[in-house]
Amino acid sequence: MTLERAYWTAKAAGIFRPRIKLTEFVPQSLSLPPRMPEVNSAWKGIESVLGDLLTRFEVPRHDCLEFGVEHGYSTAAFASFFENVTGVDTFTGDIHTNVFGDFYAATTQRLSVFPNVKLIRGDYRDWIASDSKRYDLIHVDIVHTYVDTYACGLWAAMHSRCTLFHDTESFPAVKQALIDISRNTGKRVYNYREHYGLGILV
Ligand SMILES: C[S@@+](CC[C@H](N)C(=O)[O-])C[C@H]1O[C@@H](n2cnc3c(N)ncnc32)[C@H](O)[C@@H]1O
Repeated sequence: MTLERAYWTAKAAGIFRPRIKLTEFVPQSLSLPPRMPEVNSAWKGIESVLGDLLTRFEVPRHDCLEFGVEHGYSTAAFASFFENVTGVDTFTGDIHTNVFGDFYAATTQRLSVFPNVKLIRGDYRDWIASDSKRYDLIHVDIVHTYVDTYACGLWAAMHSRCTLFHDTESFPAVKQALIDISRNTGKRVYNYREHYGLGILV
């Protein structure tokens, strides 16, 4: 159970606001992208529904931005579909990951087989303060607090055609942030319940 005050405040406030419908996303086909790295990742399984998801929501395949790269599993999946993938991460882990130390060099080496991937070592807060570009897709998979997911996710929703949020089923704070961003932007929200949950905002 999370003790984050902002999450409980948002959840309580939601009781008095219009209900947001989460439509279940049911993939029609599964296809494993090539060259997926052999690393631990809670994202495993989602890579196989990505092609179907992008087709279903008519997402162009030029520019993808990811917040939260870690060992590069999700980044590698995006690299199979998009011309350009930019991954932003502190590469030092957070309170919800079991990984500590600096893993930038190892992740850079692992993803070197993808010439279309550019990794940026930095904090999402610095990135969103200085980038005004629009992306076809933005993936939010950073520390799973309400405050950070809402701040990063709202910016992402305003700068992309499609925004993905990982861990909607394993972290209530992520699902609450997704619901509140949908309410505040008017975007539709879908949820894929497998593999810890993936929110889809379009
Ligand atoms: C759950 S992992 C990402 C997993 C990855 N998407 C995958 O499954 O392949 C979360 C990552 O977010 C990064 N992170 C946490 N807070 C961050 C912040 N404020 N700015 C940038 N990255 C952050 C951590 O370093 C960690 O690598």
